[in-house]
Amino acid sequence: MAERDTQFTGPVPEIYDRFMVPLIFHPYAEDMAARVAALRPGSVLETAAGSGAVTRVLAPLLAKEARYVVSDLNPPMLERARAMQPPDARLEWSVVDAQRLNFPDESFDVVLCQFGVMFLPHRPKAYAEALRVMKPGGTFLFNAWDHLAHNEVTATVWETILASYPDNPPDFFPRVPHGYHDEALIRADLAEAGFSSVTVETVTRQSVAPSARAAAVALCTGTPMRMEILARSPDGLDAMTDRAEAALQLRFGTGPIAGRIQALVVTARA
Ligand SMILES: C[S@@+](CC[C@H](N)C(=O)[O-])C[C@H]1O[C@@H](n2cnc3c(N)ncnc32)[C@H](O)[C@@H]1O
Repeated sequence: MAERDTQFTGPVPEIYDRFMVPLIFHPYAEDMAARVAALRPGSVLETAAGSGAVTRVLAPLLAKEARYVVSDLNPPMLERARAMQPPDARLEWSVVDAQRLNFPDESFDVVLCQFGVMFLPHRPKAYAEALRVMKPGGTFLFNAWDHLAHNEVTATVWETILASYPDNPPDFFPRVPHGYHDEALIRADLAEAGFSSVTVETVTRQSVAPSARAAAVALCTGTPMRMEILARSPDGLDAMTDRAEAALQLRFGTGPIAGRIQALVVTARA
């Protein structure tokens, strides 16, 4: 994992939250929040919470005496999440690496992580940490994007970027966010960490954007893909966004756009 793969910093947190979250993360935030709320947890830890896509949906669903710790590696993402959240005494904010949790053993009923595990170089270590801080009988929930072929809008932008750098192709999308969809590997990583009861579901949703431009801005400038483009073309962000917009318009039309998105949703217990 290159350092820039996990750099959700600079202008990224704001662009991510405004454009990426509605495009592909909010539909799964609703799914994740419903799954967590159904467990009626008294204490929840969210890792890799980013700009708060799940937090905003889940907090209103939790009991009024519940404890909800919201954490991420990158302070600017967490600051965005905090700024977007109404005052809520149940919430605690923590800058923490999901692979080295700074919480005592058996602290939480539920640990959740939405689209964060793909960014972790040591997943069995992170899963073992989740298990350590879970109370007996607790639940670990996470999701991960399926193969790019099942995620139409991102795949279209990815093909455009790939065609623009044939000699030095950036590989962030297939290598990181869409690089951990092998169910056997996920099960093996969880088993190594000590989980014995695991379910993996494939969940399909619609990704919508008000325009091809909004989706192009999201995917070219609101993720660490931005850094991969800038590393190849220091002034190339606008041109790449224009090209991605044109490709999206060709495939999905010139008005609001919609495409299929797909992820694996994992529930694990000791
Ligand atoms: C694709 S975003 C997902 C954010 C959020 N969960 C959502 O659904 O929008 C991935 C997040 O993982 C965070 N991250 C990357 N490496 C991490 C680590 N080692 N520990 C905790 N968070 C990490 C990033 O800062 C980023 O906020």
